[in-house]
Amino acid sequence: MFRLACYSFLFFHIIHASMGPSGFYPFNSNRVFVETGTYRGGGVKQAIEAGFEEIHSFENWKKFHIIARKLFKRHRKQVFLHYGDSATQLWPVIQKIDRPITFWLDAHNATDPGTDPHAKNSPLMQELEQIQMHPIKDHIILIDDIDLCGGYMFDYVTLDQIKQKILQINPKYTFFFLDGGELGRFKNSILVAQVPRDQNRCSF
Ligand SMILES: C[S@@+](CC[C@H](N)C(=O)[O-])C[C@H]1O[C@@H](n2cnc3c(N)ncnc32)[C@H](O)[C@@H]1O
Repeated sequence: MFRLACYSFLFFHIIHASMGPSGFYPFNSNRVFVETGTYRGGGVKQAIEAGFEEIHSFENWKKFHIIARKLFKRHRKQVFLHYGDSATQLWPVIQKIDRPITFWLDAHNATDPGTDPHAKNSPLMQELEQIQMHPIKDHIILIDDIDLCGGYMFDYVTLDQIKQKILQINPKYTFFFLDGGELGRFKNSILVAQVPRDQNRCSF
């Protein structure tokens, strides 16, 4: 039943999941891209198109991890695919990266609380905690499907709680929204958190 719920959610999100019409180009001033939730590789493909030098993607569903490995075989010097739970596995990878990162946080499940009231759908807050451990404090953070926050797919975590968590990383973060999905059909579905350029240099 759990997998069935996930499949129906993911089928819907095959469109919803992708970045808007301009892809990740506006965020490629950072040369490293880190995605959570590889799924069928749509985000990785767009990151390659945007010209990132080093791309990491995390997936905890083996089937999708294996599919992505085949898909991006030719890009093994650029694309690094990690099989594991991004709630705990992000830090061991990002701690070795000493450049600013563009994060695309897009890992979700969609288990209906009616099916399993204890199911965990979103690793987002743990991902942000791991990003907070990183010494660089001005990473670009993009969070997909933000229009669904406050509901069960975000484990009832609200937009305000997400913003507060990001401001704990650096109080200079500012926020805006972008349309997601192909042709930008999902209005304001991506939260962008950025530290304005002239305020980038802060010491912690
Ligand atoms: C919405 S899809 C990602 C779509 C992809 N990022 C894109 O842009 O095309 C969500 C994916 O996150 C995965 N996922 C869910 N929870 C996860 C977790 N804790 N760690 C890693 N992957 C997770 C799911 O298995 C699913 O493949």
